[in-house]
Amino acid sequence: MKAIAVNPGKPGAFLTDRDEPRVQSPDDIRVQVLGVGICGTDREEAAGGRSKSPPGSQELVIGHEMFGMVQETGTAVTQVRTGDYVAFTVRRGCGHCGACAMGRPDMCTTGDYTERGIWGRDGYQAEVVVDKEQYCVRVPEELKDIGMLVEPTSVAEKAIDESVLVQKSRLPYVPDTAGILTGRNILVAGLGPIGLLAAFILRLRGAQVYGLDVVDQGSPRAALLDRIGGTYIDGRKVRVNDITTVHGRMDMIFEATGVASLEFNLLDTLGQNGLYVLTGIPGGDRPIQVQGAQIIRQLVLNNQVMIGSVNASTAHYRMAVDDLSRARKAYGTAIDKVITRRIPYDNFNDAFMRQTDDEIKTIIRWG
Ligand code: BGC
Repeated sequence: MKAIAVNPGKPGAFLTDRDEPRVQSPDDIRVQVLGVGICGTDREEAAGGRSKSPPGSQELVIGHEMFGMVQETGTAVTQVRTGDYVAFTVRRGCGHCGACAMGRPDMCTTGDYTERGIWGRDGYQAEVVVDKEQYCVRVPEELKDIGMLVEPTSVAEKAIDESVLVQKSRLPYVPDTAGILTGRNILVAGLGPIGLLAAFILRLRGAQVYGLDVVDQGSPRAALLDRIGGTYIDGRKVRVNDITTVHGRMDMIFEATGVASLEFNLLDTLGQNGLYVLTGIPGGDRPIQVQGAQIIRQLVLNNQVMIGSVNASTAHYRMAVDDLSRARKAYGTAIDKVITRRIPYDNFNDAFMRQTDDEIKTIIRWG
């Protein structure tokens, strides 16, 4: 079968031939891949950046935002059947820490985890994949055109879920967890797929969402935010300091830019007791200058929290599936518009080309 691979550390992605994986244990599920999204991590891998091949191999099959249809199940599988639509999760536990033992490799304490398509384990940009039932999440048929959004949505779900839990545990005056985001001022920085998917989730929870990016007002990202009732802020026209003058201080910032200098600047918009969650992973090692004392003074004097959040648990994948369905009901096909390009796997190189302002999520089509 065909698969898309990289040689970690070297620029370039290429098509490779692999044996089709087979169901070997009772809890194995074999899936025909239908589509796999491309994100900043994949682009970084294809540019020779962060990635690691499986032990004993020079090559890594990339791809982690997978979606497909079950072709065959092992004898012990009970949750899905042939013909069901599914997504597999990304991270696999280290095997020797408490978090991994309880099924939360997204919170692995040793760092010895692997990630399919990224770190030490082949990924899903292939015609067929096999994995265990415990890593499989069923996706309803109504989401079959956008099932590739389940993984990036799960990343946004985790970041928001953690933020809510942290705020709920420390702020004596907040209402119950379910209503905690209702009416809150939330800045989403970076309207790429993760930022936009976060905006959908936050709007579904009743938040007042401001989305910051550097694209034109009428472009697809800004238009999509507008369609779900968010307010677009063009970062080329509005300075960070002016955001609060116009819109007030933010109760929460959801960061998805991966631009380190901006990540620090945005702190100026955060209000009293505010929470700042970071999901963007800055590339490169270029040093930046920040006003360290001022930042720490502000965090302390305003009771603010900064959280880094990566990856997601299977529970967050299930939340993602539920919210994608809810988004369909609340906003019609707006959620479908997050996917702006679908490229057949043999043209995969187009997917790694420089992104235009009109591009949000590109999918590699298999199956
Ligand atoms: C993926 C996560 C992964 C992270 C770090 C992201 O692009 O969505 O699943 O944990 O990269 O490798």
